[in-house]
Amino acid sequence: MRRAASVGDYRALARARLPHFLFEYLDGGSYDEVTLRRNVEDLQSIALRQRVLRDVSNIDLSAELFGKRWAMPVGLGPVGLAGLYARRGEVQAAKAAAAANVPMALSTVSGCSLREVAASGHIPWYQLYFVKDRGFVESMIETAAEVGCGALVLTVDLAVPGSRYRDYRAAGGGLKRMTQLAARPAWLWDVGIRGRPISLGNLEPIVGSRAPLSDFQAWIHANFDPSVSWKDVEWVRSKWKRPLVIKGILDPEDARAAMDSGADGIVVSNHGGRQLDGTSSTARALPNVADAISGRLPVLADGGVRSGLDVVRMLALGADFVLLGRAWAYALAARGGSGVAHALRLIDAEMRVAMALTACTSIADINEAILERSANQATF
Ligand SMILES: Cc1cc2nc3c(=O)[nH]c(=O)nc-3n(C[C@H](O)[C@H](O)[C@H](O)COP(=O)(O)O)c2cc1C
Repeated sequence: MRRAASVGDYRALARARLPHFLFEYLDGGSYDEVTLRRNVEDLQSIALRQRVLRDVSNIDLSAELFGKRWAMPVGLGPVGLAGLYARRGEVQAAKAAAAANVPMALSTVSGCSLREVAASGHIPWYQLYFVKDRGFVESMIETAAEVGCGALVLTVDLAVPGSRYRDYRAAGGGLKRMTQLAARPAWLWDVGIRGRPISLGNLEPIVGSRAPLSDFQAWIHANFDPSVSWKDVEWVRSKWKRPLVIKGILDPEDARAAMDSGADGIVVSNHGGRQLDGTSSTARALPNVADAISGRLPVLADGGVRSGLDVVRMLALGADFVLLGRAWAYALAARGGSGVAHALRLIDAEMRVAMALTACTSIADINEAILERSANQATF
């Protein structure tokens, strides 16, 4: 396949381009991948209520978030190691996001550092993890403020890492790794050789210039902090004056606690089914969380979004803004920044069709009334 018509096509292209261990890291979820499948399937199973003859000649996708008007209520969520999917991958993705006027959140565990991405002239949001070294956490908050990040996304669902069987099976040093790399010569030349240095840019002060790729999960286990609590969120709040978004909320009580801790937004997320396998899909969790927030904060959501139709479904379930995860990363792996730009155009076009045929001409028109109640009763 040479041309991608959909995010699903980009997944197939990414599989063909990336070394096996890297594709497994990107594509996989934790344990039996129950939650990963639920995210995708629950969202796709939501029936939309088709309406006709409503003059949908002018559709406005734009949406405001944190004082800025974006081209659509869609952003690139934080995806670790994206700098390895394409040459200096996060810089390419940030350029594509900026050109499309959508936000991008740079992961703590990115290949390119926040300073490298910011130096390209496209300032991302910054996604923060709590590592045990709080001096480092504080220095990253300062860096994010210094380079002018528009929001800090604090991810709170990785106090301990979930086990990912596919990573474990694909891992291995020496001959096994060499064989996987040799099977992907285009990637090896473009990223492995011309894309150097291969490191975790933001973490260089604590891990050095060599990425701990051979045992990334073990590194996370050793360095992420299971003692984190809402007190730490308050500590971050005291250090960071711009919009603070708590990512990894699935429960209405946690949503209320996030509000009490001074957050400016939340992301309803189960980490793309990469953490606690067996949780609800985000599509199922979202309506109750949105009810608990009841318009007091922006509610962002992610998990299983593979098309513009899925974006519209998330908005109808109560999200104000939707983050892509694997969807943009597959496109980056397959075609670099131009793949990300194309994937965003696909999402735009698919949203327009979904909105036209549910009689919505603006994002504000999208609500649960565009869902087919009787068809969705079985699952929601
Ligand atoms: C390969 C990969 C790496 C990820 N790395 C991070 C990360 O560094 N920080 C974070 O907050 N979320 C991370 N996530 C979770 C995403 O931000 C998002 O919640 C999830 O991918 C949404 O599910 P979806 O990919 O099925 O759409 C990662 C997800 C994937 C697939």
